[in-house]
Amino acid sequence: MKLLESFQIGSLKLANRVVMAPMTRSRADQQGRVGPLHVRYYTQRASAGLIVTEATNVSRDAIGSPLTPGLFDEEQVATWRSVTDAVHAAGGRIFAQLWHTGRVGHSLVRGGVLPVAPSAIRIEGQLHFTASGMKEYETPRALSTEEVRAAVGDFRSAARHAKQAGFDGVELHGAFGYLPNQFLVDGANQRTDEYGGSVENRCRFVLEVMEGLVAEWDSERVGIKLSPTIPFNGMMDSDPRALFGHLITRLNELPLAYLHLMQGLFPLDKLPSWPKDALATFGPLYRGTLITNGGYDRDRAEQVLKEGRAQLVSFGAPYVANPDLVTRFAKGAALARPDRATMYGGGEKGFTDYPALAE
Ligand SMILES: Cc1cc2nc3c(=O)[nH]c(=O)nc-3n(C[C@H](O)[C@H](O)[C@H](O)COP(=O)(O)O)c2cc1C
Repeated sequence: MKLLESFQIGSLKLANRVVMAPMTRSRADQQGRVGPLHVRYYTQRASAGLIVTEATNVSRDAIGSPLTPGLFDEEQVATWRSVTDAVHAAGGRIFAQLWHTGRVGHSLVRGGVLPVAPSAIRIEGQLHFTASGMKEYETPRALSTEEVRAAVGDFRSAARHAKQAGFDGVELHGAFGYLPNQFLVDGANQRTDEYGGSVENRCRFVLEVMEGLVAEWDSERVGIKLSPTIPFNGMMDSDPRALFGHLITRLNELPLAYLHLMQGLFPLDKLPSWPKDALATFGPLYRGTLITNGGYDRDRAEQVLKEGRAQLVSFGAPYVANPDLVTRFAKGAALARPDRATMYGGGEKGFTDYPALAE
């Protein structure tokens, strides 16, 4: 089976083509440190060809949701080190996903400080999870040009910390409506400085962040996740084909470990001009390794690899409940279903207590 064949990303050998997709589980402590439960959770899943961690805040200002981990102070680095050491001892590979939530946050989880964003435009028609329940989004504060440059620097220092923490590489969370995605789309970015306006200007933030990451790591150890056809979190754009076409063409120049492309998981009936299939539309523009993601099962994953439309496939929800997903694929075994109620927050229940087949 192609899914189980090894794969080489530059100097990094992956045991198979099954990637564990990044998943926020909201079980870090108040200081953004991971702990022994995270060591267990990630080690249980170390048979994946590559693990991408839950989204990890690059600075204090990046935080948008409670109990999410960070990579901006030494204690956080030290606790992640226990995770990477254990995953490596189990033969696994692990990248850190670097995160800034931008306007997808709330002052209630930010010590009373308003979220920041490219422009002072709030997310309409959605609620945000806080420790005091679901709340309407606030109008974020627009970052000054100086602050935008500082945020680029925060990603770079988090990448340096990821190296100190023993990761094999880093992935920029450029998807699903968080800060880098907010800079990209004209529905959230109406800046008049060099970070807004034209497609080139709106891509500038993401490209500068990527250059920063590549300056800390070899480019073959840096990936990016994009979701060009997901309008969630107010990610409206007047021309996603032109926008992401330009961005991907520029990413080819770096060249990266991979492009992690998330397929649309939301209906697009109200957006007739949007491409329906992110992989079909944008995949061919990318010249390097493609990870495809979104709603795959074993057979569909095998099919997309066989067709050569992607080289790796990542699995999110299936990895919540199936720590031994690779073994289950190999045996054609049934998959356990994840419990939605314990996805975010809590302790070991719904986190480290899903058994492997043999247990
Ligand atoms: C509980 C949960 C948390 C998630 N958190 C993140 C995250 O931190 N970063 C990210 O890029 N995607 C996140 N995602 C999206 C997944 O990485 C993946 O793109 C999505 O689940 C689709 O893949 P799947 O159909 O295999 O689940 C999350 C998904 C789930 C189910």
